[in-house]
Formats: sequence, structure tokens, C-alpha cells
Amino acid sequence: MSPAVMLPLKEKDKPIVQKLLSAGCCARCVLRFCCVSVHAAYRQPHQETLKELQTFISSDTENGKSQDPDPAAPESTEEDNKSQDASVSEASDDPPSKKAKLDPGVSDAPPEGVKESDVCMLCLGILQDLCGPSRAVKIAETVKTENYTFDTLVLSVSLPAQLCVREHSCWLHVKKEVREKSSVLDKDDVIQVKEAFKWVMQGLVAKELGGVAVVTKSQFEVGVEFIHPETDADCHFLATTCGDCFKPTKNKLSMFTRMAVVKALEKISDSKFLKHFPCPPTRPSSSCTAQDIQCLHVSVFVAGRYNKFCRSLPQTPWVIDGERRMESSVEELIAAPVLSSFRADGFNFSSSGREDVDVRTLGNGRPFAMELLNPHTSRLSRAEMKQLQETINNSSDKIKVRDLQIVSREAMGRMKEGEEEKTKSYTALIWTQKPIQREDITFIDEIKDLTLDQKTPLRVLHRRALAVRQRVIHTMNARFLDPHHFHLGLRTQAGTYIKEFVHGDFGRTKPNLCQLLKTDTDILELDVESVDVDWPPAIPE
Ligand SMILES: *[C@@H]1O[C@H](CO)[C@@H](O)[C@H](O)[C@H]1NC(C)=O
Ligand SMILES: *[C@@H]1O[C@H](CO)[C@@H](O)[C@H](O)[C@H]1NC(C)=O
Ligand SMILES: *[C@@H]1O[C@H](CO)[C@@H](O)[C@H](O)[C@H]1NC(C)=O
Ligand SMILES: *[C@@H]1O[C@H](CO)[C@@H](O)[C@H](O)[C@H]1NC(C)=O
Ligand SMILES: *[C@@H]1O[C@H](CO)[C@@H](O)[C@H](O)[C@H]1NC(C)=O
Ligand SMILES: [Zn+2]
Repeated sequence: MSPAVMLPLKEKDKPIVQKLLSAGCCARCVLRFCCVSVHAAYRQPHQETLKELQTFISSDTENGKSQDPDPAAPESTEEDNKSQDASVSEASDDPPSKKAKLDPGVSDAPPEGVKESDVCMLCLGILQDLCGPSRAVKIAETVKTENYTFDTLVLSVSLPAQLCVREHSCWLHVKKEVREKSSVLDKDDVIQVKEAFKWVMQGLVAKELGGVAVVTKSQFEVGVEFIHPETDADCHFLATTCGDCFKPTKNKLSMFTRMAVVKALEKISDSKFLKHFPCPPTRPSSSCTAQDIQCLHVSVFVAGRYNKFCRSLPQTPWVIDGERRMESSVEELIAAPVLSSFRADGFNFSSSGREDVDVRTLGNGRPFAMELLNPHTSRLSRAEMKQLQETINNSSDKIKVRDLQIVSREAMGRMKEGEEEKTKSYTALIWTQKPIQREDITFIDEIKDLTLDQKTPLRVLHRRALAVRQRVIHTMNARFLDPHHFHLGLRTQAGTYIKEFVHGDFGRTKPNLCQLLKTDTDILELDVESVDVDWPPAIPE
């Protein structure tokens, strides 16, 4: 172990140290309340620190005795080599005779409280045996097992809410001493459990992971969570003093969340608090337990353009009354290989508009973007990206993908912005009831910027509000096929309902092609030829 660190404590801190130790505070919590911000002081084993603190408080009053630390103080430096329930493990670690037989006899010594149980009444064990090398090994093992690729990581720590209550009680306990005698000025100066925990653990975890930087901000978060069986019991009284602060929440186990507890503590008066909660806090019956370690990488965003060559493929899974109508979808065909390349847990798919199930998307394709949730791989080289695109292309004849690339979350917004102003080009195969001749349709080519009033189509009325929208067809051209068929090309404002323009939707779209040609017309096939959104940027081959 590293050589002992000189604790940066001053003579005037002595009464606080004494008071905290006898109340059952662990050594690191004592440092916190003395506002010690020297990280190294927290990094040494807490048992070492405890010995130093005991020496510190006994040095003046009992001159010379300082070299004789309490024989019953915990000696194990094998940090964490105990079960997480310190009160159980203590029996097996130390010769039972020492504690059980000796302690009750010397009950007047100041640091007495510390000897009865190892569990700190303030941090509930978090800064004791839950904070050291073996915990770091566990965290590192989990991270390694999940096989993420990352350069840096950030530790996030979630603590049971009653730590705030206990912290408040302890503050009230030492407040008078603090104000008059020590260098501590305010409750906010007290080092937080979370901070102290990170000061100890960041370096240890970094070392276990072969020197990766553990930083305060990173794309990759490793979540360490502690819970305690007495959270509700400790916090319960706050619900009677501030009913508004606590609301049952659906996805939380307890309504005593940290935020709610902090809010309630801000509102309660000191005297009222002291009526309901012991000061100093009493010993807990057990220490916190560590929950499974949760790894989370921020989302990666991937964008590209897709072609759809099939007239029986929906864009997204088509489910009616819980039953699947089509075996696949554009979204799924693209997502499956992408998810497996980035080893992501899930995705959100969005695109610049969408086509109907029976409409093809040709030309350069339709821009799309995907949010990949919790990707275990967050970067692909240009070559890997090209290979992924090829895998998608090879997987089906129904779709193809181009310009596949990683984009930023912000850039994704560009796909949606100004969507309404963009233009789209289509080709439709038209059927006419009355026979036509070549000359009958040439007038269509002359029509420019035709404004349509489109009532919400009948076929989408179940999911869209009824409204009349104006849309512009910028240009059209007609190519004669036979007396009942021709190809109609259109360049329109985005959002124009093409099918309704052709058949009229029972007069709900005006003007419509039936009126223009003075015969019933219908649309047999529709292709999107281009979606004029210049995002994402083209990737040169
Ligand atoms: C604790 O340490 C002992 C000896 O150092 C070792 O044999 C034992 O496996 C350790 N137990 C745990 C749970 O790590
Ligand atoms: C970890 O991921 C890499 C790719 O990033 C892969 O090559 C390797 O086989 C994976 N290892 C395990 C144990 O899954
Ligand atoms: C993305 O998907 C997740 C779950 O799949 C969902 O919780 C989240 O709200 C979605 N986000 C967006 C922006 O759609
Ligand atoms: C995938 O198909 C699209 C459309 O045909 C093509 O532009 C692109 O180059 C293809 N990409 C690869 C890597 O095969
Ligand atoms: C895609 O198919 C081509 C032609 O069959 C093949 O040469 C290539 O290796 C395939 N690529 C991938 C990534 O599967
Ligand atoms: Zn503590």
C-alpha cells in the first residue's frame, strides 16, 4: 500500500473529528465534513485514515500516546475482501474475541462508536468496503465483458436517497462546532459522497482497464448504483412534512427519489427535522448493496439514402390489430445489418417523408437517418462503412442504400428542416376511361405552378385531422403509351397527395386530373424519382 498521507487537518478541526468519530462516522466521511479536498487522502485505505484520525485527536490531550492506536480498530487492509454486508463479514475477518470481549469494557473512549459496527452512519458503507480495489476490479470486469469500444469513460454514481437525510442530520449535529471553531463555513463546502467515491475509484478503474482515461465527461458511461433496505424507513417522515414533494412514480421502485428528498429537506425547519430524525443519525443495521453495473454508450447517428424497388414493401413494420401484414419493411432491412455492425441495442428510424407500400423510390433515393441506441461499437472506418452498405445491398433485391455515413445528432435535424418547401419528382402510370390520342395530352406539358386545394384524403383521414391544404405542382409532362394509358411526370411541392390529384378523391382534391382531361382517370403505378433534400452529403465512390 502507498505510504500514509499527511492529513491536511488543523487543530481547530479536532472537535469535529472527535464528534464525528464518536457518532459512528467512517474516516472518509470525517474528511468530507472537514472539507478535505486532497484526493490522495481519500485514496489510502480507510482503515489507515481511521488510525491517523485517532492519532490526531488523541495527540494533544494525551501527549505521547499517539503512537498507540486503538488495538481494536479494523486492521484488515484487504479492502473489499468481505461480503458487502459488513456487519456479517466482520465476524469472519477479525478474531471474534478481540471485539466482542474487549470493546464493551472501554466504552468511554471517544472513538468508541466506530468499533461497534463497521458501517458508517453517514455513507452507509459506500466509502468503506464498497469503495476500493476489489470494487474497481468488478467494475472493470463488467466493462470488459460488454466489449465496448471507447477511449474514455465516465463513472456515474447513484446513491440511496436517505444519504441526504443523514447528511442533513449530521450537519445539524456538528453545525455549532463548525461555525465557531473550524475552517468549514457552510454545508455546501462539505465534500459529497459521490465526489469522494469518484476520487478513490476513478484511478483504480482506469488502472484495471489498462490506463484508459476516466474523465468527467465521456460518451461512455459506467453506472454504479447503490441501494439500501432502509431508504423508505429513513425518509418516511418527510412525506408527512411535505406531501407535495413525493408523488408515486411508475418506473421507480420508491417514491423517495433523491430529487424529492432534497426538495423536502429544503422546506423542513431544523426544529421540525430534529423532532422526527435522530441527531446524530443512528447506526444502520446493514451497509448498502451494489446493484449490477450498467454500461451505456451515447447514441450514434447514421444517415444515408435508400432506394425501394418493390411494390409490396412498407416503410415501417405494418401491423394491424397486433397482426403483421407484410413480412418485412424498408426500416428492418436496413436496420438489421446496421445494428449488428454497431452492436447496438435498438434504433429509431426516420426519413424525409415516406412512400406508400406500393410506391417505388428510384433515382438517388430517399434520405433517412437512424439513431442507434447504446452502440457497443461507435466508429466504423470508411472501408467498414462501405462493406456495411454492401451487406445491406446484398441482403435483398427490394432495397439498396447509398451515402451511408455517421452524422451528428444536430445534423440529423437538417433532414427535417424546410421539408415542406422541398420539391419531389414522380412518375405515375395513368389509366383513362375514355380513349385518348397523343394530341389529347400534350396540353399537360404547358401547365406550370398549378395550385391544388387538397382536403385530407379519405385514406389517411383516420390518422390525420381534416383540413384543406394548398400544394403546388410546379411542372408536368405526359408520355403517351396507348389509348388508355400514359406516363405522367410531375415535379411538386413536398407533401402533395399524387394519387388524389389523379383520381380526384371524390372531388376532395381540386383541380384534379379527371377535370383536366374531362374523363375518369386512375393511377396504376407510382414511382418517386427524386427527393430534393441535399442531405446527407453524397459519399464519393
Ligand atoms: C479473500 O482473500 C483471501 C486471501 O487473501 C482469498 O483466499 C479469498 O479468496 C478472498 N475472498 C474473496 C471473496 O475475494
Ligand atoms: C469484441 O469486439 C470486437 C469488435 O469490436 C470483436 O472483434 C471481438 O471478437 C469481441 N470479443 C468478444 C469476446 O466478444
Ligand atoms: C427512440 O427509441 C426509444 C426506444 O426504442 C424511445 O424510448 C425514444 O423515445 C426514441 N427517441 C426518439 C427521439 O424517437
Ligand atoms: C449499393 O447500392 C446502391 C444503389 O444501387 C449503389 O449506389 C451503391 O454504390 C451500392 N453500394 C455498395 C457498397 O454496394
Ligand atoms: C456482395 O455480393 C457480391 C456479389 O455476389 C460479393 O462479391 C460480395 O462479397 C458481397 N459482399 C458482402 C459484404 O456480402
Ligand atoms: Zn462514511
